[in-house]
Amino acid sequence: MSKFKFIKRNDTRKDSIDWSKLGFGQYFADYMYVSNYKDGSWEEGEIVPYGTFEIEPSMMTLHYSQTIFEGLKAYNNVGGGANIFRPDMNAKRLNHSAELLVIPEFPEERFIEAVKEVVYYNSEFISKNEGESLYIRPVIFGSSNILGVHPSKEYKLIIFASPVGSYYDEGLNPVKIKVADRYVRAVRGGLGTAKTGANYAASLKGANEAKKEGYSQVLWLDGVSLTFVDEVGSMNIMFVLDGEIVTPSLESGTILPGITRDSVLKIAKHLGIKTCERTVSIEEILSGLATGKLSEAFGTGTAATISPVGILNYKNTDHAINHSEIGPISQKMYDTLMGIQYGKIEDPFGWIIHIDL
Ligand SMILES: Cc1ncc(COP(=O)(O)O)c(C=O)c1O
Repeated sequence: MSKFKFIKRNDTRKDSIDWSKLGFGQYFADYMYVSNYKDGSWEEGEIVPYGTFEIEPSMMTLHYSQTIFEGLKAYNNVGGGANIFRPDMNAKRLNHSAELLVIPEFPEERFIEAVKEVVYYNSEFISKNEGESLYIRPVIFGSSNILGVHPSKEYKLIIFASPVGSYYDEGLNPVKIKVADRYVRAVRGGLGTAKTGANYAASLKGANEAKKEGYSQVLWLDGVSLTFVDEVGSMNIMFVLDGEIVTPSLESGTILPGITRDSVLKIAKHLGIKTCERTVSIEEILSGLATGKLSEAFGTGTAATISPVGILNYKNTDHAINHSEIGPISQKMYDTLMGIQYGKIEDPFGWIIHIDL
């Protein structure tokens, strides 16, 4: 089946995995795809055993963070084979991030082919348990060994895979989120819409402080006035206000355009649930909670799937949402999305790329 050169390993990493406690990002599957950018073009690339490579201390990315990544999943299809969810969207977003970070674009079709082969060669790492999947992590970084702030001349793209369970210890149980009122993640004109390490580095201090106080993640507000809701550390945020799903608009230019976000909005429209993308102030959320207008909040993300928010902490006060229980719209979105991903319900959107195994 291989479109790319394939180098076989003679052992497997499978036996070192505790399949009863997968967690997130703990284990890595046998094979990865690697392509290098040299002399102005991307090499065809090859599938090789997952493993280490050498770097020099002067490698640019270590210093200037010219790096971007993606995250997508392959699911065990209940009728056999595997389902990859919307890899075309990840290919597009990778190239959007590439443009912002002055990294050469990677051909979309080759990206999708490479993802398919990574899934195929690592098919024994796709758990058959509901809620578990094979997380696929593409990453590109500037690999030239030169100092000085300018774009790298050479790059490396790697697509590797990790068998995963739930992102949060809570699973589908509602998470506790703290609204950041001191730190900011991104500002208009910056890198907020790119999936790049710098955004996550900027989020660590606030997230760490929130974690120490018992919160899973931070809800970021806009970086200028700390008034409008942006997104959570690794997911977009949705609120149910008067029965309508409301989510911050991408117009702000500071939010990652989530593929789960886009999918949930399309599923909701398909199911006849009203949706609205607009600016949402934190005051509107708090008053919605006080008046009962706000009935649910949930995060959306590839890793986090649909993650109900049970507690929102703002300026040291905890606000419970829906008595810290999952609400009917969050549950419906979870069931529908998972149903499509695991092939339990029909995919009316053409999102699934199926692989026979
Ligand atoms: C900052 C941030 N926002 C949103 C998301 C959700 O994006 P997606 O649904 O494409 O996984 C992620 C996760 O990838 C993220 O890291």
